Amino acid sequence: MKQTILVTGGTGFIGSHTTVELQQAGYKVVIVDNLSNSNIQVLDGIEKITGIRPAFEKVDLRDKEATEAVFQKYPDIEGIIHFAASKAVGESVQKPLLYYRNNIVSLVNLLELMPKYNVKGIIFSSSCTVYGQPKPENLPVTEAAPHQKATSPYGNTKEVNEQIIYDYIHSGAPIKSIVLRYFNPIGAHPTALIGELPNGVPANLIPFVTQTAMGIRKELTIFGKDYDTPDGTCIRDYIYVVDLAKAHVAAMRRVLDDEDSPAIDYFNIGTGHGNTTLEIVETFEKATGVKLNWKYGPRREGDIEKIWGDCSKANKVLGWSADTPLDQVLASAWKWQQKLRENGIM
Ligand code: UD1
Repeated sequence: MKQTILVTGGTGFIGSHTTVELQQAGYKVVIVDNLSNSNIQVLDGIEKITGIRPAFEKVDLRDKEATEAVFQKYPDIEGIIHFAASKAVGESVQKPLLYYRNNIVSLVNLLELMPKYNVKGIIFSSSCTVYGQPKPENLPVTEAAPHQKATSPYGNTKEVNEQIIYDYIHSGAPIKSIVLRYFNPIGAHPTALIGELPNGVPANLIPFVTQTAMGIRKELTIFGKDYDTPDGTCIRDYIYVVDLAKAHVAAMRRVLDDEDSPAIDYFNIGTGHGNTTLEIVETFEKATGVKLNWKYGPRREGDIEKIWGDCSKANKVLGWSADTPLDQVLASAWKWQQKLRENGIM
């Protein structure tokens, strides 16, 4: 058995897939989650896939005492993967203080507790949103690309959290960190035992696509067709959630086991290439055999035209790459949507 890892937000979309990969790699996992945007039954899915039920504590990380009690109960925790955060861009504009309290206070509490409980490393979930719209000459974006002012409180919390970790380590705190900047995570575990469960009408593309295919939504609107891209629709770097989960295992290994690794490091986690929204729709149709109802609509305010990552640093340093073909990824999202229907959830 390898080290014990605290996974915050472990019942969420990326957290649950990462818990599976950690357990399959031999780590012991303790999940904390306040279940504000996830369901306790996710633990059943994780257990079915791995044969192990992770320890679970229903804790709100804004509550420092309750968070400290977790470290007291599990004194073996050596690393943290910090997913727990609010993530709806639109909501963050409506309720900025909720986002600042949830996303900033939680991190500060964890960082304060780490040295006291001898926790050596923290992997932080950041986002390519910190780059804003990169200049054309900066595409694909590397980790060294300039950051741009966030366009939403959500995006700002990612930027500020990165800065908080940097400042703390810079002050000499006895911890290490890897910041992972995700591109667009999509898909579901191949078993369809865990996946993404969006609340209400999905804002993200893939859940909207699968719900439209299922007939839950009447039609998909592709936001904008006159962007400066080959077919006029936006470009993103869509990364399979299982590949993304594996990047966390590689990062944790580096933080805990590689004494020569720097105290803080940053990695882009994507596929290294971009797809247009139209390509996603067409690939989905081909991969699943389902015809999608869709139309063009106006641009979505605040949307970035095109971004994809240069992920060669992660490929080289973490020995990790995102290899799953897009059609397989989209088929996994569809299988998950079908499973939700089968189980009467959606
Ligand atoms: C969004 C957030 C980003 C966040 C990420 C989390 C914005 C501006 N950005 O990224 O900060 O980290 O989610 O996953 O909200 N699309 C359609 N029709 C739809 C939905 C989406 O055409 O119904 C298009 C969008 O215009 C975009 C692409 O699909 O080009 C992906 O959209 P989405 O899944 O919302 O992700 P991002 O906008 O990249």
